[in-house]
Amino acid sequence: MTLTETLRYRGAIGQWSWVLHRVTGLGVVLFLVLHVIDTSWAVFYPGLYEEAIAVYQSPLFTLGEFVLVACVIYHAYNGLRISLFDANPRWWKHQERAAWVVVGATLLTLIPTFIIMFNHVLVHYQHDPFILPLEKVLQAQLPFAVGIAAAIVGAVLVSGVVGMIAGNDDAEGKGKPGSRVERFWWSYMRASGFLIVPLVFGHLAMMHLIQGVFDLTVAGKTIVGTNGLVNVSGTAVEFVLARWNTSLSGATTGLAIWRIYDIGLLLLVTVHGFNGLRYVLTDYTTGNMLLKRAAVYLCLIGAVVLLVVGGAALLSSIDRDAIIMACESQEHIGRPLSAFCQQALGL
Ligand code: HEM
Ligand code: HEM
Repeated sequence: MTLTETLRYRGAIGQWSWVLHRVTGLGVVLFLVLHVIDTSWAVFYPGLYEEAIAVYQSPLFTLGEFVLVACVIYHAYNGLRISLFDANPRWWKHQERAAWVVVGATLLTLIPTFIIMFNHVLVHYQHDPFILPLEKVLQAQLPFAVGIAAAIVGAVLVSGVVGMIAGNDDAEGKGKPGSRVERFWWSYMRASGFLIVPLVFGHLAMMHLIQGVFDLTVAGKTIVGTNGLVNVSGTAVEFVLARWNTSLSGATTGLAIWRIYDIGLLLLVTVHGFNGLRYVLTDYTTGNMLLKRAAVYLCLIGAVVLLVVGGAALLSSIDRDAIIMACESQEHIGRPLSAFCQQALGL
């Protein structure tokens, strides 16, 4: 059913939960693209990472952060409802009540979550914070918009070439509903959903509740999940470095617990999110084989790019010179520097 049909239909709650599930899923996929690419900069372009975190701390992105958390929580609870009801057909008569339970559980979770997040915002704004100007925030999004547009054009071009070689008939087989491949994806979406819930909720608890996005650049703050390491330079790069170098045993070498955690998160969420995007895009391109195939290629390109870029970052080491580059970047954007950065830059 298309979005216009849904809105015209004014259906019961089931209809609206379908729309919300779709919209929230798409919102999180879009965020994920920016987020994984940004995070990889902590390794490959430490200066850019520092700017990206300044963007995340701007008022526009703070608003977006509240919307993002609401999207993740609603989508997670509703996804669990879908999966549980699919597995238990005898519950189907309770669908409507379950959809309301999801709305209620989302609100109940969001109230304390938003209070804690809002408290972080209040504390931050009480101390005359550094705010990146709006035009810089918007400018920073331009390369992403160009990259996404290029991926769309690339997917349509490849689809056109494949169409010229193989024809544009909607061949029976692999990609059809009910095929073995589609049954696999149906199960993957449900199984991965169950695994993503603890991973993504844990990640959000660390980044929004315990620590808060603003704390990433506060010198002297203890870094969450690192056995008490302190962010001496007040750079976001040191925050990631400390987390990714923290080992399970507490020693300086050994299994890097947050890298393993993030690898699991990256794999599950990227494949789930881009397969979800494929469901949505192919739903709206059923009549046009060129676009439908382009939609599949686009999702494939997106998933591969994120897995390669995010995976490469997670498997690389960050050396301490990166912190000096982060200090330089902070000076460049006009953020007040910590004593460590001032000394490191000879100021
Ligand atoms: C937090 C735990 C999550 C659970 C329990 C969950 C569960 C689900 C389920 C059951 C579906 C329906 C699949 C189907 O129709 O066959 C789905 C679809 C989808 N999910 Fe998730 N998901 C989760 C997280 C995410 C995340 C993090 C993203 C984004 C990166 C995402 C993006 C999507 C998208 C785009 C769809 C397609 C929506 C549609 O077809 O209308 N999901 N999810
Ligand atoms: C504004 C909200 C968020 C903030 C501030 C944030 C912060 C961070 C930070 C600092 C890292 C670096 C590594 C670490 O410390 O573990 C990271 C990594 C990661 N985050 Fe988030 N996160 C947010 C939301 C999310 C959400 C909603 C998802 C999933 C849909 C997610 C998925 C990931 C993944 C997959 C990585 C690993 C990236 C890589 O491979 O380089 N994050 N996040």
